[in-house]
Amino acid sequence: MTASFGIRPRRGLSLLCVISAAFTFGAVIVIWFGMNSDRDYIHPVLTQLIPAGHCACESSTTFQCSTCLTCPDPALQVDTTPAWTFEYARDARNEALNQRQCQWAFPGLFEDIARGRKFWSTHGRLSATELDAIPIQHGMVRAFVANGQLYVVTARSKGEDHRRKILGTLSSIHRALAADPERASRRDFEFVLSVEDKVDDVTKAEWPVWVFSRTATEEGVWLMPDFSFWAWDNPDNYMGPYDQVVERIKRLDLPWAEKTPQLVWRGKPSFAPKLRRMLMEAARDQPWGDVKQVDWTTGSNVLKMEDHCKYMFIAHVEGRSYSASLKYRQACNSVIVAHKLQFIQHHHYLLIADGPNQNYVEVERDFSDLAEKMEPLVNNTDAAQRIANNSVRTFRQRYLTLAAEACYWRSLFDGYASVWNGTVQQMSGEDIERGLRYESFALLESAKMSEFLATDTEKWQSY
Ligand SMILES: *[C@@H]1O[C@H](CO)[C@@H](O)[C@H](O)[C@H]1NC(C)=O
Ligand SMILES: *[C@@H]1O[C@H](CO)[C@@H](O)[C@H](O)[C@H]1NC(C)=O
Ligand SMILES: *[C@@H]1O[C@H](CO)[C@@H](O)[C@H](O)[C@H]1NC(C)=O
Repeated sequence: MTASFGIRPRRGLSLLCVISAAFTFGAVIVIWFGMNSDRDYIHPVLTQLIPAGHCACESSTTFQCSTCLTCPDPALQVDTTPAWTFEYARDARNEALNQRQCQWAFPGLFEDIARGRKFWSTHGRLSATELDAIPIQHGMVRAFVANGQLYVVTARSKGEDHRRKILGTLSSIHRALAADPERASRRDFEFVLSVEDKVDDVTKAEWPVWVFSRTATEEGVWLMPDFSFWAWDNPDNYMGPYDQVVERIKRLDLPWAEKTPQLVWRGKPSFAPKLRRMLMEAARDQPWGDVKQVDWTTGSNVLKMEDHCKYMFIAHVEGRSYSASLKYRQACNSVIVAHKLQFIQHHHYLLIADGPNQNYVEVERDFSDLAEKMEPLVNNTDAAQRIANNSVRTFRQRYLTLAAEACYWRSLFDGYASVWNGTVQQMSGEDIERGLRYESFALLESAKMSEFLATDTEKWQSY
């Protein structure tokens, strides 16, 4: 009796538990499906339900850009009448512009470096002590520049993707140094970099790590140009050096009047389900919309980078964090349509959302105003062409050139070195070198490069 009495309510309870567990399980499955599906259509209610995914933000962090193209930071302003002007055809590939030429050619490019300097001037300057506190995780490197040469202290990769991004980034640094007309007099400094997508994947926002992107509140880090300026090579995405991609796009780009007056986007919704599904919903069944999910395994809906340029409008959506593809889209003579961005890259300060210099179209993160912004531009493609022209003039022909990239790197070296206390230890103990020269590092076999600690590697010590 007591036994059955005892069991009955428990049975009732467990039934309830089972039902609610089943329900929860069902809901989890449905939401999981929403987040991971790459199908063209999932119910809009589901799009509302699914969490924002890896990018934990629903609203954008619009960053302070008090100092843009039209209003450069007074501290960065140089002579009002430059003695030299940048000419795209002549100078775009010149990686050896001097410091003054860099400042004349690229006003507004060095904003984040100025920000980092200001931050570290007021938060105590930098020395080996601060760097020693930073654990070197996979995807990170500790290195130094001494007498204008790059040395690798330690480098760690989990897999080829890390290793290639690390090698590409170090190569870009080496190139900027090698072309420096003032190389010999360069100040020594030591630094840590991360090739991971997000700061909080591997490190902390209050540490002085060099990263590809940051959010507005991640203030300790320094922005560097991403790995794909050097080149990008993985199974889904073979991309040459950025300037080569640009040349290819220039050869294939159509005259404006021959472009399709539609908004194009191809991607995997599951990379950032909320954002990407919102875009798919906002463009669905619109005469100006050509937004589709791709399936890399079957190749369905895959559109080559240069074929995006056949459209007047190209949508840009963040993925897990920043998306390195923005610069490829900006290479087309087309209008970039982007939601308010959360992740800042070094050249984002140059994006202008309105006024006579407008060089892209900005919409809300939920794309609620997409139709409202698209319709007048589809109606009046002259207005759209003006924006596309500004984009080409600003990005393809100026701020995304090899010349600008090298200038940015050297300005980063200078800005960082100005808050670095000046000491770089080159030896560890009597006879052991702390760093391996970049030229030798680049020759290491993959496995050695992936878990590399210079002082542990006897061989380098015996030349
Ligand atoms: C820089 O910091 C290191 C500690 O990391 C210290 O040993 C060195 O004396 C400092 N140098 C200067 C010039 O302040
Ligand atoms: C676009 O043009 C069509 C027809 O020419 C007109 O009906 C519509 O109101 C216009 N839309 C906007 C937003 O200008
Ligand atoms: C855009 O640039 C092209 C080529 O330089 C020029 O022919 C066209 O008039 C420009 N359009 C606008 C609207 O500024």
